[in-house]
Amino acid sequence: MSAVIMDGKALAEKVKAQIREKASKLRRQPGLAVILVGDNPASQVYVRNKERDCAQCGIMCYDYHLPQDASQEDVLDLVEKMNNYGAVDGILVQLPLPEQIDERVVLEAIAPDKDVDAFHPENVGRIMQGQAYYKPCTPAGVMEILHEYGIDPGGKHCVVVGRSNIVGKPMAMLLLHENATVTICHSRTPDLKAQCLQADILVSAVGKTGLITADMVKPGAVVIDVAMNRNEAGKLCGDVDFAAVSQVASYITPVPGGVGPMTRAMLMENTYKAAKCRIPK
Ligand code: GUN
Repeated sequence: MSAVIMDGKALAEKVKAQIREKASKLRRQPGLAVILVGDNPASQVYVRNKERDCAQCGIMCYDYHLPQDASQEDVLDLVEKMNNYGAVDGILVQLPLPEQIDERVVLEAIAPDKDVDAFHPENVGRIMQGQAYYKPCTPAGVMEILHEYGIDPGGKHCVVVGRSNIVGKPMAMLLLHENATVTICHSRTPDLKAQCLQADILVSAVGKTGLITADMVKPGAVVIDVAMNRNEAGKLCGDVDFAAVSQVASYITPVPGGVGPMTRAMLMENTYKAAKCRIPK
């Protein structure tokens, strides 16, 4: 039997249309500052996509591009300016940053109420406590996809492969807060296959093409692929062997067209939420 393919792209379009409608009722346009440092080609594509999403949602996008050799001070000065800029509700510093810049220092400099990525320790702490105002975009996008397809993580065993601060760790928290039993696997997990076979919901966020094969998936499991890799032919793909796993799973997200568009839609949602808080009624 073939799995249901969960259409993140269609869901993202629906969510963005709702945001546009909500945003149009505010007394001014929400504003998002996007700061790109250097010329990482993948980052340039992401930033361009964000500009398009903003236009679709009626959000004003303020783009800042600093050179590859920008100093930490240059970046911190710009973040501080955006913290104090009234028309800007949300600030996103595109990662990764060039190596001369300390990522942690920059992310901690963003005002927590404008931290639409939810990377500031204050927001991370709220996520841990189940009190998040801003949910981290990728994990929040995954939860929206599960909800849309009527999949309740409550009482299920969820296995998250990957322990990054951006995806793996907050993903585990959001699933836990919806009453899942959660296992986090990573590069030092001795028997990844045995762990994955336990999963009712398997989330892979590693960045390794072909990592999740059909023999690692319990028949009928839900499989979520967060990765965005390129195969030898240069084609976008995830961690999951989609063709084979979709014959075993009950639901599966494709790459592209699965989690990626929902991550971006959640950034728009967080920017709307930031604006709603800051704009007087
Ligand atoms: N680089 C890759 N993913 C992300 C993300 O979610 N936010 C930011 N700021 N940079 C990223």
